[in-house]
Amino acid sequence: MAYTLHQGDALTVLAGLAAESVDAVITDPPYNSGGRTSSERTSRTARAKYTSGDAAHDLADFPGENRDQRSYLRWLTELLTESYRASREHAIAMVFSDYRQAPTTTDALQMAGWTWNGILPWIKPAPRPRKGGPKQDSEFIVWGVKGTLDRTRDLYLPGHYIASQPRKGRVHITQKPVEVMRQLVKVCPEGGTVLDPFAGSGTTGVAALLEGRNFIGVELSEHYAATAKKRLMSALNRENFVLAGPER
Ligand SMILES: C[S@@+](CC[C@H](N)C(=O)[O-])C[C@H]1O[C@@H](n2cnc3c(N)ncnc32)[C@H](O)[C@@H]1O
Repeated sequence: MAYTLHQGDALTVLAGLAAESVDAVITDPPYNSGGRTSSERTSRTARAKYTSGDAAHDLADFPGENRDQRSYLRWLTELLTESYRASREHAIAMVFSDYRQAPTTTDALQMAGWTWNGILPWIKPAPRPRKGGPKQDSEFIVWGVKGTLDRTRDLYLPGHYIASQPRKGRVHITQKPVEVMRQLVKVCPEGGTVLDPFAGSGTTGVAALLEGRNFIGVELSEHYAATAKKRLMSALNRENFVLAGPER
């Protein structure tokens, strides 16, 4: 297995990828969400939006969180269009979102050419309680396919995922659980290549390598690109991998 990690802007790097060269796009973009009002969403940092009292506050901030809804739609559509061009027929795209950006994300996916197939809930079992209404315990994975699903594959995956956000050994503000990502990367055929234009700390890539898939990642932040590189190397070598138990 192999990985390539680009430190740079996703759109710029994607434009340089060969057409039809990847087998799945699995990504967790900056949600440009996390606030009740438009001004909260566009003026606060990622740290202010996504770290709470129980989270590790020494985690580094990350860029790209201050678009309003219209510019987010435009930007995400461009990214998913480039990702579509870089994908082979039957490739699946999976894009994380919260409830606020789910409509924007499904629009962007379809405008980019993907056939929208559904929304998979990622349920976090221990959310903060909410007075006066239902708990907000889920984020969502919007997914679609380039053309049609490859029904020759013997692939069956869950329609929802239950896992806590990593706590012990957490290295990114919005880090996704490796156990969830290890399921998702199976949409890429074994030995194929998974693309993540917003690699963060590299969780998608760690999962891809552990599951026998290759990985191409892009991360703008120098800090998080360095973090991702360390984790990817460890996953590749499967040694000294101490960031979190389930990753072993
Ligand atoms: C939601 S986080 C991804 C977290 C990741 N799933 C993980 O488990 O660590 C989104 C990442 O996209 C990066 N980012 C923001 N704008 C970007 C851009 N234009 N190009 C590439 N990466 C970008 C941020 O620095 C951030 O690390």
